Amino acid sequence: MSDPELLKRAAEAKEMAYAPYSGYRVGAALLCNDGSVVTGCNVENISFGATICAERCAVVKAVSEGKRDFKKIAISVSGDEIGFPCGICRQLISEFAKGDFEFVCANNKGEFKKFTLSQLMPHGFYSNLKKETNNG
Ligand code: THU
Repeated sequence: MSDPELLKRAAEAKEMAYAPYSGYRVGAALLCNDGSVVTGCNVENISFGATICAERCAVVKAVSEGKRDFKKIAISVSGDEIGFPCGICRQLISEFAKGDFEFVCANNKGEFKKFTLSQLMPHGFYSNLKKETNNG
């Protein structure tokens, strides 16, 4: 799937954003290696720390559907400036994605810049904490 096509899915997902506190709407479209696309939007909460970003929404939806193999994510924001993923979202994505995973980061006009996970998350937190489980 092309970057503009994936961005279109992200822009559509942005319409579902629940952002009554910031007014800043974000949509994400996550392309999995099986070719499927899982979308997400930001979901805010009156207890601000409970807010979920669009990227994390998409990743959690995907993992809950048995998908863990990701290729790239498009991010579309309601602001004029290109939207970059926050640190928590970078960390969550790095749990599942390799360094060549791509971020397609766009503004409200569809202008975008691309980065790899290696570029946006150098020296992330990794360890050998993972335990052998049936599905881990
Ligand atoms: N937000 C995202 O959805 N993704 C990010 O990577 C950064 C921030 C949302 C959270 C909140 O609803 C709004 O943008 C303002 O911070």
